[in-house]
Amino acid sequence: MFFRSALIFVLGASAATAVSLEAKKAPRTPVEAKEAPRTIMEQDVTVFEAPRWARGERVKGDEPVTLTFFLKHCPYQFAKFHADLTDRSDPASPNYGKWLDVEGVKARLKPSADALEAVKNFVESMGGVPAVDKFESVVSTTVPAKSVEEHLATVLHHHGHTERNAQVIRAVKAYSLPTEVAKHVSVVGDLVRFPRLKPAALVQEAHPTEAVDDDSAWTKCGSSYSGFVNPHVLAERYGFEFPKLSHAKGNSLGLAEFQRQYYDDPDLEAFTKACKLQTNVTVSKVEGGNDPKACSGGFQGCVESLLDIEYAGAVAGAIPLKVYYATDYSLLSWANQLLSKDGVPPVHSVSYGNDEAQQTGRAYMDSVNTAFAKLSATGVTILFAAGDQGVWGREGVGTKYHPDFPAGSPYVTAVGGTDFKEKGTIGEETTWPDGGSGFSNDFTRPKWQDSYVEKYLAEAKGSLPKFPHVYNASSRAYPDLSALAGVVNAYLVALEGGKRFASVGGTSAASPVVAGIIAQINDRRLSAGKSPLGWLNPALYKCGEGVFNDVTTGKTSGGIVGGFPAAKGWDAATGFGTVQYKPLAKCLVAN
Ligand SMILES: *[C@@H]1O[C@H](CO)[C@@H](O)[C@H](O)[C@H]1NC(C)=O
Ligand SMILES: *[C@@H]1O[C@H](CO)[C@@H](O)[C@H](O)[C@H]1NC(C)=O
Repeated sequence: MFFRSALIFVLGASAATAVSLEAKKAPRTPVEAKEAPRTIMEQDVTVFEAPRWARGERVKGDEPVTLTFFLKHCPYQFAKFHADLTDRSDPASPNYGKWLDVEGVKARLKPSADALEAVKNFVESMGGVPAVDKFESVVSTTVPAKSVEEHLATVLHHHGHTERNAQVIRAVKAYSLPTEVAKHVSVVGDLVRFPRLKPAALVQEAHPTEAVDDDSAWTKCGSSYSGFVNPHVLAERYGFEFPKLSHAKGNSLGLAEFQRQYYDDPDLEAFTKACKLQTNVTVSKVEGGNDPKACSGGFQGCVESLLDIEYAGAVAGAIPLKVYYATDYSLLSWANQLLSKDGVPPVHSVSYGNDEAQQTGRAYMDSVNTAFAKLSATGVTILFAAGDQGVWGREGVGTKYHPDFPAGSPYVTAVGGTDFKEKGTIGEETTWPDGGSGFSNDFTRPKWQDSYVEKYLAEAKGSLPKFPHVYNASSRAYPDLSALAGVVNAYLVALEGGKRFASVGGTSAASPVVAGIIAQINDRRLSAGKSPLGWLNPALYKCGEGVFNDVTTGKTSGGIVGGFPAAKGWDAATGFGTVQYKPLAKCLVAN
């Protein structure tokens, strides 16, 4: 742990500015209680501060604030929707791959017209113009902070991250809605609860060594940067098409990037050139704007998004890449952004998450999960980096493991991490000790996982964590599969137009690699006139153990204690292990 912290970014200058903001007592009069009965929202959230977020000034009355109201879904309706989705995701079903369009989702999962009216009216009473999403279940608006404080009976403050250049607005006390409105609303997005910024993947400057004169995959990215994982090493180990020179109509790959993690073309060109790729790594479309200048300021600028783009791009080859920038660190707004757009890529990689423990709000997790279910039902595969702190999560060692959200969501395919067993040898892999893994505390175990998890629990019994109360073995287990992520041979990333290279690790490296592989499999499906993979997990678990490189050694102790051991077959350290492209593609294209 300490070793890794030492490698993480230096403080950003503007983050320091944010920290120095003093919490001033605003001279405004307290909000008067409204007469209509009110309901406190997200009642299980009781803490309105977070480590590494410093409270700044109260938000000025006329500052615009965007509110997003997520309407409730009837649990019975959602259960039916889930059952229908499960059927469409089962390769043995005649309905496999028959994904829904917006009308199809709405017909099955739409709040009542009354509910929508009530929320729209409330927004209008705030002085806002309600914008309704195309699924008719999310209403958003932008209104002055004063109106939010008054109508939601709360107080808003700016907050700045103490280590990163990031700002958010959050309520510093509970918020409430008139009961008549509250009964239709699950959460108002991102008012309480702070995002956990993914710590930068392990970063160090990669220094050129003596030029190596051999022809192995290790030296393909410039002979003086030998020994790093690069696209050639990945291709040799995982066997995907390399180079991938063409793409099927309608295929693409999406990457989620957050606040200030931008990219610039000179870096992508430098990577393409240094690694002698036969396909250019380029971004075909950016949603949410880009600021390439952010990438000239050393490591901090762009390393995480460059890692995603360089590796997803190198694996996906000619398949177009789309980058989605979310202006805030919000899983809900990211999912909502995808749900509101047409032509969304059929696979997405996201290297961003939270500990479940920190997502104290059940309603919040349910809203995110519902958004993921809708995306899955429209034929979108969602991959998440499983986390970079082993079982302990970002909360650190305690009396319980800290599972990651949304890696623990059943609609997400969670990507864990491995290292090469022998440094510099493309061959067997072992568990990366810091790979996120284990059992959710909030989501029940899906049927498609049952037999694998039961077998693991029985066979690995002797080497499982000694204290069963530190995890909940009856819930959703993750990761589902893994890819190289560790520091035995770190990934080589081009920065600053190729003037510098960084060595980077973490499941945020593994996830875009797997996304590139899934994009290649989607390409084969689309070329054969089939639908994209969509919700992947049920089909992945049906393919099962034979189509992966099994990882049987190591455990996810976070470099400290405890953790889940790898074992023969599926395990809670690396899932099925890492991809063998040919048999996996054969299995996933068959139906
Ligand atoms: C890659 O980019 C270079 C320079 O911009 C161009 O000459 C080349 O044709 C491109 N290759 C492919 C496969 O698009
Ligand atoms: C364990 O998980 C299951 C399903 O996710 C849940 O119903 C149960 O309450 C959990 N047990 C504990 C002790 O948290």
